[in-house]
Amino acid sequence: MKRVWIETYGCQMNVADTELMLGVLGREGYVAADVPEGADVLLVNTCAVRDNAEQRVIGRMGELQRHKHPGVILGVVGCMAQRLGPILLEQVPAVDLVVGPDGYRNLATLLGHAQAGQRVHDTEYRSWEHYEDVPQVREPGPTAFVTVQRGCDYRCTFCIVPTTRGPERSRVMAEVVREVELLAADGVTEVTLLGQTVNSYHDGTHDFADLLRAVGAVDGLRRLRFTSPYPTDFTPQVIEAMATTPAVCDHVHLPVQSGSNAILKRMLRRYSRERYLEVVAALREAIPGMTFSTDIIVGFPGETDADFADTLSLVEAAGFDDAYTFKYSVRDGTPAVKLKDHVPDDIASTRLTALVTAVRAQARRRNAQRVGEVHEALVERPARRGGMMLARTRRNHMVLLDVPAESIGEYHRVRLTGTTGSTFTGAVERPALAVL
Ligand code: 5AD
Repeated sequence: MKRVWIETYGCQMNVADTELMLGVLGREGYVAADVPEGADVLLVNTCAVRDNAEQRVIGRMGELQRHKHPGVILGVVGCMAQRLGPILLEQVPAVDLVVGPDGYRNLATLLGHAQAGQRVHDTEYRSWEHYEDVPQVREPGPTAFVTVQRGCDYRCTFCIVPTTRGPERSRVMAEVVREVELLAADGVTEVTLLGQTVNSYHDGTHDFADLLRAVGAVDGLRRLRFTSPYPTDFTPQVIEAMATTPAVCDHVHLPVQSGSNAILKRMLRRYSRERYLEVVAALREAIPGMTFSTDIIVGFPGETDADFADTLSLVEAAGFDDAYTFKYSVRDGTPAVKLKDHVPDDIASTRLTALVTAVRAQARRRNAQRVGEVHEALVERPARRGGMMLARTRRNHMVLLDVPAESIGEYHRVRLTGTTGSTFTGAVERPALAVL
């Protein structure tokens, strides 16, 4: 039996892809290693979206080489593998194998070649590939990721993903439903549907509204989430499906990228600030209490102080509860490389700090007002802090609960008793409403 250690960087789709690779390799007799020491195969599943993500991987590969005894294979997979391909083999002598996101089906064969002493790469695009027949190896638990769409056909000028993940394609709805049924039969009660622009899902017959309804109807499924949607793909039909499918949760992660119309245009985002706010308003109206998080880039080429001020004011106007904030990172091969007026790093850093401060202050303010509310929370996992458990509300707030480890997977009515600003402490409401 061979042991494989996979380290995962980047987005949720990479987490799902790692589960997929463990499935592909599991069929060939590989098992997942708990630690890199002593593994026969070391794989790093990488992200290419920003330079610092790639630098981290390069640093980590240096460390992993410690475990690369004779016969041990070191491989780079994922988006950085796709972006750099054979260049990685040239520049990092310790690397034996480089495989992009469409090549995982051949992983065992390629590992065989590597074990025979070859240095191999596979960065072919396979726009039909959904790994439909691969049984993923998932961490046991109440929640699961389900990839419903791979690749991306949008052309945001900052983004490398269309290059690393190829053209957009959606899985057939019936296949997705079948997978969710199997998960539900296994005890999973919350599913997150994944796609680069997940709400543009279309399998030729069914759109995202159909998908939400069909998945939401699966017996045993209590919560349905999805990430990441694209603002203008929230059609009235999708919003209606969200409002009328009880499993759909009251939180949307909706990347805005900038609050300035001039910058949105340069980014080739297909909406204005006003349109974005309309979408947020429409969702809030359809699902009262809905919360929003977002992704924001600062320091995009041409961004002025006034543009940045528009981003700051959008944070408030949209009422975000959370934001992932990034300094623009130039990616070779993206259209934005050619844009003029690159923003000096110190200015971008200052803006990033100001933005983070604004987002945190707003989250703290909003969360302070929520103390005392009662919400349904799913106990997900142990917290780092002494014996407590972490639970998540439908609005995506994390709540520290003093409940036993055996409560993982349980749904409780929980009163929010305090907040650190970003997360909550809570108490289970007893006795009548203890378990829903
Ligand atoms: N520089 C900085 N941030 C980026 N993102 C994508 N490409 C870049 C880039 N070149 C951010 C976007 C996206 C998130 C996943 O990463 O905000 O939504």
